[in-house]
Amino acid sequence: MIKYILLFILCLLVTPVCGQPIANNEELWLDDNGQHINCHGGNILYLPDGKYYWYGEHRVEHIPGTSEDGISLYTSKDLKTWHYEGLVLEAVKDMTSDITLGCIMERPKVVYNVRTKKYVMIFHLELRGKGYSAARTGFAVADNPKGPFRFLRSVRPNAGKWPADFKRKDKKAASDLRPEAYKEWWTPQWYQAVSKGLFLKRDLKKGQMSRDMAVYIDDDGKAYHLYSSEENLTLHLAELTNDYLHYTGKYWRIAPGGQNEAPVIFKRNGTYWLIASGCTGWAPNKARLFKASQITGPWEQLECPARGKGADKTFGGQGTYAMPDPQRPGEFIFMADVWTPKQLSHSRHLWIPVTFENGSPVLRQ
Ligand code: DGJ
Repeated sequence: MIKYILLFILCLLVTPVCGQPIANNEELWLDDNGQHINCHGGNILYLPDGKYYWYGEHRVEHIPGTSEDGISLYTSKDLKTWHYEGLVLEAVKDMTSDITLGCIMERPKVVYNVRTKKYVMIFHLELRGKGYSAARTGFAVADNPKGPFRFLRSVRPNAGKWPADFKRKDKKAASDLRPEAYKEWWTPQWYQAVSKGLFLKRDLKKGQMSRDMAVYIDDDGKAYHLYSSEENLTLHLAELTNDYLHYTGKYWRIAPGGQNEAPVIFKRNGTYWLIASGCTGWAPNKARLFKASQITGPWEQLECPARGKGADKTFGGQGTYAMPDPQRPGEFIFMADVWTPKQLSHSRHLWIPVTFENGSPVLRQ
């Protein structure tokens, strides 16, 4: 009996009040060692050992020439008390490696592949000294959720491939675009050209740009990589091979010219939902909401999902992952980063249980 009473009390302690944020956007969130949880832009896996595994960017201020030294892992039994397990993928000293110190590894997502029994990490990689121009995807793999992850390679996705739903006339329309006619950005003609595939065509040979990203495993086990492409103007949803380590070459564009970043994707009662941000660097902006009945689209844009004070800036946060809510089966917690660019390691965590109103997801702080 005492066991059940204790269990009940524990449940009360970890149950979020519906719609109220679990982590707020102002305070530091300390681990069991008294240090702020330095794990940003990542995701959380719940594994059969009854523990949550939280992977993210490990930001540092003390190493000259870089803002991060790798991907960190924290574990928890209750989503509240977190233990730092160290770096599961480290930036290396070897200057010939794509992940040499000084590179930027952002928005890592770790997924488990039931077929290969491996943990796969996919992340946005920028090469050392090249700012944000490389726009590549990194792949790493591990036998164990605590790593170490072995870096495999980085690529520009889908070189030589047109989107899966591009018909002959679409390919021709994109191929006929003359870049010199669109030197001035943000004009109506330029937007039209972007939508037709101005940057898609430019990057066809070397592969498409890939920055802010999410990974989604569908119920049939198929994995998709969703990333900001085409100069951050258009999201791409790319199918991954069965081992989750390569692209199949099939991809679909979402909201061409819409300038969406920080994609967060989830499925509820058969409908796919996507919450993204606009592109304003580290500064927060108004979230965007999309819906589809098939993951490959068409995606319909709806009104901003955030409500209440601070909603027009997503309460200071930018989404990173939709975590299945252990307290509400079938529902999700929207995890976001509240970036503090002067000291990225101290960027705050904002977790908001997603509620539904009139059939659409809502975020309230
Ligand atoms: C916004 C992105 O969402 C972040 O991950 C990061 O790339 C910043 N831009 C850099 O300015």
